[in-house]
Amino acid sequence: MIAIHFVAPSEDSSGSEGTIHCKTGQSLMQAAVAANMAGIEADCGGLLTCATCHVYVREPHASQLPPPSADELGMLAFTAAERRPNSRLSCQIDLTQALDGLTVDLPASQH
Ligand code: FES
Repeated sequence: MIAIHFVAPSEDSSGSEGTIHCKTGQSLMQAAVAANMAGIEADCGGLLTCATCHVYVREPHASQLPPPSADELGMLAFTAAERRPNSRLSCQIDLTQALDGLTVDLPASQH
């Protein structure tokens, strides 16, 4: 089990933040959805066609992730919230033991 920390946008008061403990071998999106983490919509279920699983990955983990594929980069053009240098689609992040303690900021909106 690894711990993943979700941080809500500062203007958000819905409580969409917290820490989940989850298994490796799944995507960050799958772990978030299984934990009912508000703020991760994942409308396409991980098919890389919706961009509603957008997160901002904090260091030190952001630079340790494999770079986004061309398809992920293409979908990152369609995020509802602003795209930042550390924007990633959580369905494309495979959870490994090395990501224990990962912290991601949730965007203000997924739609
Ligand atoms: Fe749709 Fe990630 S869940 S792009």
